[in-house]
Amino acid sequence: MLQSSLVIRRPDDWHVHLRDGEMLATVLAATARDFTRAIVMPNLQPPITTTAAALAYRSRILGLLPAASDFTPLMTCYLTPSVAPDDLAAGHAAGIFSAAKLYPAGATTHSEAGVKQLRQIYPVLERMQRIGLPLLIHGESVAPNVDIFDREAVFIEDELIPLHTDFPALRIVFEHITSREAVQFVRAASGAIAATITPHHLMINRNAMFEQGIRPHLYCLPVAKREAHRLALRGAAVSGDPRFFLGTDSAPHLRHLKEHDCGCAGVFNAGSALACYAQVFDEEDALARLEDFASHFGPAFYGLPPNAGTVTLERVASVAALPDWPSPLGPIKQFVPPGGLCWRVVKP
Ligand code: DOR
Ligand code: ZN
Repeated sequence: MLQSSLVIRRPDDWHVHLRDGEMLATVLAATARDFTRAIVMPNLQPPITTTAAALAYRSRILGLLPAASDFTPLMTCYLTPSVAPDDLAAGHAAGIFSAAKLYPAGATTHSEAGVKQLRQIYPVLERMQRIGLPLLIHGESVAPNVDIFDREAVFIEDELIPLHTDFPALRIVFEHITSREAVQFVRAASGAIAATITPHHLMINRNAMFEQGIRPHLYCLPVAKREAHRLALRGAAVSGDPRFFLGTDSAPHLRHLKEHDCGCAGVFNAGSALACYAQVFDEEDALARLEDFASHFGPAFYGLPPNAGTVTLERVASVAALPDWPSPLGPIKQFVPPGGLCWRVVKP
């Protein structure tokens, strides 16, 4: 008999884009409903590069939460060559920074201020290694001759392996992995190396972006890869290996800016992510392991206690779409896998 519901400890989202201003005000509720904590990406414009900026951003987030919410945003620093190691360390010591994010310059949305040469930030990485502050990596090569579908694999060879050799004790999260090579790298690595996996990379391969026409809402970076890679990600997610845990990479863009001459990269899945993960684990006959992936392995990596409380998921008749997320700026399409979604979070 099919399992009709599932209760798990409240999960966290270890990678989310909450944006700022009106967009933040509208999408925050989606994340805060299903997740108790979230690692908040710093790729605002301008990016969050100082403790003071992170503190102000955190206050803006907290100021938009309903009084009853226990949601905790965990802040990150956007690494540029100008980030001061002392400020980063002070922000970490004060409990403001939970991690720092490496964007190779030009790799993705709002990454222009990122890092051109890893050596530019070696003094910061040295300090992070010493104080145990995790480095979150957008792992794509930006070399102009590299095929977009090879960018992650090339990054591993050209940047990540040398980086890990130079900083063997640096805690690293390889973010939103999309390839078999990334799974293999994490499995084989020594030291505190982990990876987040998004719901959409578990549910679509690159064909889905071109199914009967171009599907801009399935475009994100790193871009979805071949089916063999998706299967490797699914294997890693359900394996029970604590180095693979939940990170949605929910990245809202207005519908009209996705459906555009030059559509933005990013999938908005904050409201559907938990149901999507449940569906993946269900399909893999691994529902019993969802709680570890969603609610235990992330806190263990970050040295935090698991959350109190639970969330209930239930199996439902498959839905082909969810309503657009309303925003005063315009509607935002919510991610639903192409074959439909047959789980949902039960409202508390
Ligand atoms: O698809 C993406 N969208 N990938 C990223 O790395 C950034 C994100 C965004 O901020 O929109
Ligand atoms: Zn992201």
